[in-house]
Amino acid sequence: MNSFVQTLLFTTAAGAALRPRQTNDGCCFQLASVGMVNGTVLEDHVGDLLLGGTFQQGGFCLDKTNQTIKDSLGHNCFMRAPDYQFECYQGAVGTTAFDIASPKADGKSYLTYDNSPGVFYACPIDSESYDIYSSDKADKSGCVPVSLALLDETAACSATATAGNSTLSTRSKTARRTARQMASPTRPLRRQSSSKTCSINPSAPSLAPFQLSHGNSSVPNSSNETSAEVIISRNYSAVFDYAIPDTFPPTNSTGESSLCALQFRMPVCTSLPKGYPCYSFSGLEQEVLANSGMTFHLVDDDGNAPWNSTELHQVFPGENTIIGTFECGQVAGYGESRKMSWHVSSVRDFALEFLQAGVGQSAQFQDGVGAWIVPCQ
Ligand SMILES: *[C@@H]1O[C@H](CO)[C@@H](O)[C@H](O)[C@H]1NC(C)=O
Ligand SMILES: *[C@@H]1O[C@H](CO)[C@@H](O)[C@H](O)[C@H]1NC(C)=O
Ligand SMILES: *[C@@H]1O[C@H](CO)[C@@H](O)[C@H](O)[C@H]1NC(C)=O
Ligand SMILES: *[C@@H]1O[C@H](CO)[C@@H](O)[C@H](O)[C@H]1NC(C)=O
Ligand SMILES: *[C@@H]1O[C@H](CO)[C@@H](O)[C@H](O)[C@H]1NC(C)=O
Ligand SMILES: *[C@@H]1O[C@H](CO)[C@@H](O)[C@H](O)[C@H]1NC(C)=O
Ligand SMILES: *[C@@H]1O[C@H](CO)[C@@H](O)[C@H](O)[C@H]1NC(C)=O
Ligand SMILES: *[C@@H]1O[C@H](CO)[C@@H](O)[C@H](O)[C@H]1NC(C)=O
Ligand SMILES: *[C@@H]1O[C@H](CO)[C@@H](O)[C@H](O)[C@H]1NC(C)=O
Repeated sequence: MNSFVQTLLFTTAAGAALRPRQTNDGCCFQLASVGMVNGTVLEDHVGDLLLGGTFQQGGFCLDKTNQTIKDSLGHNCFMRAPDYQFECYQGAVGTTAFDIASPKADGKSYLTYDNSPGVFYACPIDSESYDIYSSDKADKSGCVPVSLALLDETAACSATATAGNSTLSTRSKTARRTARQMASPTRPLRRQSSSKTCSINPSAPSLAPFQLSHGNSSVPNSSNETSAEVIISRNYSAVFDYAIPDTFPPTNSTGESSLCALQFRMPVCTSLPKGYPCYSFSGLEQEVLANSGMTFHLVDDDGNAPWNSTELHQVFPGENTIIGTFECGQVAGYGESRKMSWHVSSVRDFALEFLQAGVGQSAQFQDGVGAWIVPCQ
């Protein structure tokens, strides 16, 4: 019995060690995570991709015609519902559309997916290894954002990456995005549980701040303050003021508890409405490498919601991030509306300058970048 098991293990291990690198002349590579966890991407014998541990280094090939990745056994790789884990299975397909971003300042090319900049989450399995997920993963507690850099890539990959500049490529990207949006019109927005789990219906009503002001920063106010422009950086912070009417959320479909979330939305610039200015951002690399981000200090709340004002929040292009949740129900005693204000500050030189949509009576844009109060489903 023992020797049979040993033989089996030996066979499996030897098989793994002899895994051939895919021999077609496409874009093939290995992957390494960059960020708070640095490691090569390994693949275990059930097709899960991991960081850390003793498994074989994974080898991958990207087919740019249909944006699919196969591992070195020819199994399709994807990150799909409900768990959004990065894995490669025989016979299975997923809808994840992979791509490669042109080399960054560090000279590396990065793996991206679904037309977003390519933030993956490394979530600990044990003290030395991590599973890898897409940013759609619901509960990211304990996980850290990482980028996946290409290692040892074939020349065909650079051809893929630099093609990002051409008109043709831009057009096909738009077409793909449209196709995906049409394929899943009711897909809930991404969620993240920094406190309670909250899933947000994309059509849920949203409250934008009614006004914005400079927070206490080392730079004095430069002009009039009723602008929708927000600067979060080392020297600038901002205060977001909300008024939650006692009729919010408008329908009581959630039962007794009406949990609300403060949600930060950061669409990719190409999907912003026409005329909406693109934000300026310290960048994915800075954020992931320096573990930078923002704190949302609850400075004022009629409802005295419990809130962690020192927690670090990281936002990424293409993602909607739940900053925190609180009970927003129509508890008596707020008068006409409940006031809530957050003072948002930069941590470790994170910088983001954007136009908050929906501010004021005559806001030019209702949807776009910024922080909203939304009911959880
Ligand atoms: C990971 O590597 C990057 C770039 O090489 C480095 O800046 C970063 O500090 C490393 N992170 C850790 C946790 O070692
Ligand atoms: C993508 O294209 C390759 C080559 O044409 C094919 O082998 C593979 O099955 C395709 N993948 C999907 C998911 O359609
Ligand atoms: C992008 O395209 C422009 C115009 O065709 C060209 O001048 C520029 O060198 C290209 N940049 C890259 C990185 O390929
Ligand atoms: C603003 O900064 C000054 C000086 O550092 C400090 O005295 C004051 O309490 C701060 N105000 C707020 C609202 O943080
Ligand atoms: C900046 O603007 C805010 C809001 O209008 C005001 O309360 C604050 O006193 C101003 N600070 C300075 C230094 O002018
Ligand atoms: C501030 O607003 C006042 C009145 O709306 C205007 O006269 C003034 O020029 C504005 N100042 C700046 C710096 O924009
Ligand atoms: C930010 O503040 C620091 C220290 O107060 C100062 O040295 C730096 O020049 C400021 N940067 C900008 C862009 O104002
Ligand atoms: C919401 O609905 C639940 C269940 O129907 C009910 O018990 C609760 O009182 C309602 N809350 C409000 C504020 O109407
Ligand atoms: C708030 O968040 C910080 C950073 O994540 C954490 O260290 C701290 O324990 C949290 N505080 C509370 C009261 O949960």
